[in-house]
Amino acid sequence: MGMSWIITIDGPTASGKGTVAHWVADKLGFHVLDSGALYRLTALAALEEGVAADDVPSLTDLAANLQVQFADYRVWLNGVEVSDAIRAEQVGNLASAIAVHAPLRAALVARQRAFAQPPGLVADGRDMGTVIFPEADLKVFLTASVEERARRRYNQLINKGISANVDALLLDLQQRDERDRTRAVAPLVPAPGAVLLDTSAMSAEDAAEFILAQFAQLDA
Ligand code: CDP
Ligand code: CDP
Repeated sequence: MGMSWIITIDGPTASGKGTVAHWVADKLGFHVLDSGALYRLTALAALEEGVAADDVPSLTDLAANLQVQFADYRVWLNGVEVSDAIRAEQVGNLASAIAVHAPLRAALVARQRAFAQPPGLVADGRDMGTVIFPEADLKVFLTASVEERARRRYNQLINKGISANVDALLLDLQQRDERDRTRAVAPLVPAPGAVLLDTSAMSAEDAAEFILAQFAQLDA
């Protein structure tokens, strides 16, 4: 508690974390950390440099030395804008595959914590409340049924003009969820004290309003 607030939003893929985090941060004038982007950037760098998904020393080196810039909803890797490139399902799947490696995760910790700046931060990912910011003022675990999440991801892709198959996406999401939940290091689990929010039948705006209401109680 105090000068610099921290709100963490963890949850499975396409539960709405990024959308809701930006909404909440905009309302409060807080910074945002899209931690998944760091894993996606490491995955993209690995693809570009031909580093294998099990070459832990090289992957850790890539993660430690990422040259990244974030601004608004955009991101640059080594000076090249990769905002769309890191959203590809192939990159998301590789991100999830390499995120099991403890040394790689450790290489990203300080970079993530550096985002905690006044007046506050909204951080989204898998282990924001459990590992990176265990002292957070408010922890949220966002969920939705896997069918609803597959529909959301499908609509996102179609809206960007990328063709997609909803059944393939469903399988993909199930595999990624399973890997994120069962890995030994920083698995996807609600942090102690986290508020659980199932948004299967809730708009992103209502989810953001719910979180803002929870935060207003702390700030009172
Ligand atoms: O957008 P989506 O929820 O699909 O994924 P993301 O948040 O961009 O994260 C991509 C992958 O990075 C996830 O499947 C996780 O395996 C990994 N990740 C992680 O291990 N820890 C985090 N704090 C964030 C992401
Ligand atoms: O970051 P994460 O992968 O958890 O999800 P996202 O990319 O923020 O959201 C996935 C899509 O679901 C976006 O197009 C949202 O507009 C939509 N959506 C949502 O985020 N929350 C709801 N309650 C309903 C829809």
